[in-house]
Amino acid sequence: MTDTTRPKISARSVERVFAAETDNPVHALGPFDLDIADGEFCCIVGPSGCGKSTFLRIVAGLLRPSAGAVEVDLAGTSKTPIAMVFQDYGIYPWKTVEANVRFGLEVGGMSKRDAREKALFWLGRLGLTEFRNAYPDKLSGGMRQRVAIARALAVEPEILLMDEPFAALDAQLRQILQEELLALWEADKRTVLFITHSLEEAIVLGDRVLVMTARPGRMLESVQVPFDRPRTPELRAEPEFNEFKAGLWDHLKLQVEQYLNELRTVEEEGDER
Ligand SMILES: Nc1ncnc2c1ncn2[C@@H]1O[C@H](COP(=O)(O)OP(=O)(O)O)[C@@H](O)[C@H]1O
Ligand SMILES: [Mg+2]
Repeated sequence: MTDTTRPKISARSVERVFAAETDNPVHALGPFDLDIADGEFCCIVGPSGCGKSTFLRIVAGLLRPSAGAVEVDLAGTSKTPIAMVFQDYGIYPWKTVEANVRFGLEVGGMSKRDAREKALFWLGRLGLTEFRNAYPDKLSGGMRQRVAIARALAVEPEILLMDEPFAALDAQLRQILQEELLALWEADKRTVLFITHSLEEAIVLGDRVLVMTARPGRMLESVQVPFDRPRTPELRAEPEFNEFKAGLWDHLKLQVEQYLNELRTVEEEGDER
């Protein structure tokens, strides 16, 4: 049993410095603090390079923090409690669609037969059944990203980490995948941490939107999204939606400007050399 009063993910004074032992250490993140509730869909926005991916990799256990800690409160219901989806799909080009989805299950110790059954179920839910024997390079970007999502969901993780998963897709496809993801999430309310550079996407999907500062990324704001679920595509056209988005943008804009100023400074220093 999970204790529902405890956060599912809890980050305390998390920092990450890259190249710490060199003359040019990069303070990428933090100190960063964050609590995410069980079943919450939390979106993170912030300027480029502020440490969003770094934070996600720390939560996934792929990277160690230089200071502070991230705790995840797992119920132990899944062999792969944390799954990740990346912008560039991260699926194996030499495996078929079905084999890509089966792979994570078999690695987790599931029998071939059960893995196949589960893979086919999730391929069905993502509209990929007829493509199950295809190789990824024969698929469109949208289809490849569906494969990555099917693979992540098939392991029935307790926590789903998504790093700008729709950033490479065109606007219409992005909207369709957002709606599909919302429907999937409504069905079993996993804890989701979703990074995006689109405020619109963050508001359409999230229970809460976190705005990070420019590098080293810290928490600037954490705002509850005031719109009811299930959310429909028409929400985007509502005046309240656009007012809310404009309010968030006022905060984010300052951080993006700071990031741009730093870029200019770096360029000028480069010119002087
Ligand atoms: N392995 C690494 N070595 C050195 N610097 C890194 C490494 N990974 C990321 N960085 C730097 O850390 C900062 C944060 O990166 P990242 O987390 O990818 O930002 P974001 O995802 O917000 O765009 C950037 O300045 C980036 O260049
Ligand atoms: Mg990133």
